[in-house]
Amino acid sequence: MSRTDILMTAPMMPIVIDTLEKACTLHRLWEQPDQEAFLKEVGPRIRGVATSTLYGRLEASLFDNLPNVEIVSSFGVGYDNVDAAEAARRGIVVTNTPGVLDDEVADLTLGLLLATLRKIPQADRYLREGKWLKASFPLSTTLRERKVGIVGLGRIGKAIARRLAGFDVGIAYHGRTKQDDVAYAYHPTVIGLAEACDVLIVITPGGAATRHLIDADVLKALGPNGVLINVARGTVVDEQALIEALRSGTILSAGLDVYEDEPRVPQELIDMEHVVLLPHIASASVHTRNAMGKLVADNLIAWFEGKGPLTPVPETPYKGR
Ligand code: GLV
Repeated sequence: MSRTDILMTAPMMPIVIDTLEKACTLHRLWEQPDQEAFLKEVGPRIRGVATSTLYGRLEASLFDNLPNVEIVSSFGVGYDNVDAAEAARRGIVVTNTPGVLDDEVADLTLGLLLATLRKIPQADRYLREGKWLKASFPLSTTLRERKVGIVGLGRIGKAIARRLAGFDVGIAYHGRTKQDDVAYAYHPTVIGLAEACDVLIVITPGGAATRHLIDADVLKALGPNGVLINVARGTVVDEQALIEALRSGTILSAGLDVYEDEPRVPQELIDMEHVVLLPHIASASVHTRNAMGKLVADNLIAWFEGKGPLTPVPETPYKGR
């Protein structure tokens, strides 16, 4: 594999860079002063791409400059940053990093849910501002007696549900299809799930198919005691509708890890004291990000050793070379 040329589109973790540098010739696109000229010269030699969902979209037009690319290895379980359908048309395999982050994301989701309901960040600010010296922190809302709806019962959704079971709350879910081996109540529509629950946890893939799945009507159905937790993609929630629902009391509060235009977060949300806002950190521990980075490099290495991709996305199934 020593002569295999790999293109990295944006800076990635040392574990990815170091592993790939040992195994192949690594080209750093973001360091090129004239990317167009660089792609014209080096593009035809590139056989693999390392990219990341954290650094924006990999435009399908890039493929025009990489006529011999065989595989795109993307950092992150979500791969809405890559046009996988277009890659499939061109015979390019796309891989993501599923599995290794499920527990980390599920842990953070429960943390965000509790932080939102029990106002943990607000209580921390209260103490630091010296307000406890004058009065106790106001009583908070609770997870007790709530019913939690999970939008997207994939691997991470199931890890969230397992944790929720330990909190003794009702659990229901919505997804494209009912899963026969799952005991939680299934709702064929997201609005039906919202009507039946007072917490919605969104953990469905991003992309065109789920854009604004959570809209003004769903938020209305969730109701004035309702809490929205989004650890999926910002695009899944109509952010303007959410701001309006939070402002008008259509729902009670929200805990968000993702936004429509990251890293920009609407000022209206920042100004709200009754929401908890995280900077897209659900998988962001050293342990888990290293595991994800290793899988990015391992997918490329396995492919160029002729072993096939380790974790291809469903749109580009591996049918052998
Ligand atoms: C992070 O958002 C991921 O998709 O892994």
